Amino acid sequence: MDECHDIKISRRDLLITGALSVTAANIPAIAAVQDTASASKNLPPITSAIHFHVNGKAQTLNLDLRTTLLDVLREHLHLTGTKKGCDHGQCGACTVIVDGRRINSCLTLAVMHEGAQVTTIEGLGNKDNLHPMQAAFIKHDGYQCGYCTPGQICSAVAVLEEIRHGQPSHVTADLTARSTISVVPAEEIRERMSGNICRCGAYSNIVDAITEVAGRSA
Ligand code: FES
Ligand code: FES
Repeated sequence: MDECHDIKISRRDLLITGALSVTAANIPAIAAVQDTASASKNLPPITSAIHFHVNGKAQTLNLDLRTTLLDVLREHLHLTGTKKGCDHGQCGACTVIVDGRRINSCLTLAVMHEGAQVTTIEGLGNKDNLHPMQAAFIKHDGYQCGYCTPGQICSAVAVLEEIRHGQPSHVTADLTARSTISVVPAEEIRERMSGNICRCGAYSNIVDAITEVAGRSA
């Protein structure tokens, strides 16, 4: 038998050997990263004081810098009207209004909002004094299970303000025209509300509710 035949290595063997040697070479680096990660687990959280207004009430909190605005609202201030759906900016259930603009509170750290005015569903109205948008959602059955509804309503209130201030959307035909709130088309509402997902599919009733508050019959 010839010698060459004894040491014959297949291409597959070569690739496996190569991969093993690369992995072995990286082990010290991986171990160092793991050591750093486990060491940091033992460090106390870095905290900071934040002052802001939530639903008109001044709040001062000492927070772990990593705390999202959503978790502050729900876990620290017990304003559980704001919902945690995906916690990844994909569903809109956590929408609140900060300094007049709607944001996903799961995607923003609370410490980024020093001095801000935060409005949640609890701050828009209450059962004895409903916000017109809350009343319209009830009138038009703009919900079923209701889980997405606080986010939908906060978003809808901010949407009408965006239109009043002439902010265009992706479906606004004339970017230079000043929008008139009372003639806002359903297509415009659907586009602007597209970040608020409703698993119950109450979309057409939600559009009716917003249309009515905008000043047009639904
Ligand atoms: S919970 Fe924030 S977008 Fe879904
Ligand atoms: S009403 Fe159920 S998810 Fe919207």
